Amino acid sequence: MIIVKTRKNLQKIILKLRSEQAEIGFIPTMGALHEGHIQLLKRCREKKLTIVCSVFVNPTQFNDKTDFEKYPVTIEQDIYLLEEAGCEVLFLPSVEEMYPPEGETNVNIDLGELGNIWEGQFRAGHFDGVCQIVDKLLKSVVPDVLFLGQKDYQQCMVLQKMIEQIHYEKNLKIEIVPTKREESGLAMSSRNKRLSDNDKENATIIYKALKHINTHYSESVYVQLINDVKGFLNEKGFDKIDYVAITDGETMKEITTPSSSSRPKVAIIAAYINGVRLIDNMLLT
Ligand code: PAJ
Repeated sequence: MIIVKTRKNLQKIILKLRSEQAEIGFIPTMGALHEGHIQLLKRCREKKLTIVCSVFVNPTQFNDKTDFEKYPVTIEQDIYLLEEAGCEVLFLPSVEEMYPPEGETNVNIDLGELGNIWEGQFRAGHFDGVCQIVDKLLKSVVPDVLFLGQKDYQQCMVLQKMIEQIHYEKNLKIEIVPTKREESGLAMSSRNKRLSDNDKENATIIYKALKHINTHYSESVYVQLINDVKGFLNEKGFDKIDYVAITDGETMKEITTPSSSSRPKVAIIAAYINGVRLIDNMLLT
């Protein structure tokens, strides 16, 4: 695995790969890697693409400074896991490399309401930061396919919207990889490292709640269903709930009444247990 720290050197490697007709799959991450991230590499490998990953804890997407400071950094282990999973190029830039002092203009896109609801509402500026960094990374890597996890469903929709509005050198496709879960159902997340064993056990209620919504949404009054789920979360120690909702699978606009529309729907949850914010979602079937 080649490890490269500057955009300039990355571009040289990418040019070389392109001259060898390589098709590139790109997996951006913030490190603290786990099995969930590795699923993205597995999918990339199945597609026989050259795997390029980045590890960069992006300061501009953290609305909460302490969350940024507490973000786990496990770079030695990340390098080991990436190498083992077949990553060919790891881009490992510094903050100065991605945000040089002379500055670069913000990415100019219109996310509309999608950027301001749910995660956008509770983490103001979060998606601006995500778009800013992913745009910079895409311009350096120029991949054929961008791999994203369903775990961050709204992020997938936001980045889909971004790439529809920006012209990249390559015709870029997004591949969404299903959420990898612990056996207990808890979605794997770098933030789980901050949970005690007891909180981890209690946090499995999120997956159970999503399954409950999936079983009952076609026959239930949504307000009631959502309130029941909020009650389950409270009982298990979730003391702050940002949202529980059923939304359109693309626009993520809230749906409040059952309908016969065949458009995909997704149930979404964001809540805190002992100060740790967890998010999860499920496509309703
Ligand atoms: P990070 O949280 O490190 O996640 C990197 C990628 O791994 C994202 O696409 C995320 O959805 C995916 N992922 C995380 N947990 C997963 C799981 N349990 N199953 C499947 N995929 C999972 O998301 C970010 O970083 C950043 O916002 C980033 C896109 C890198 C921009 O800074």
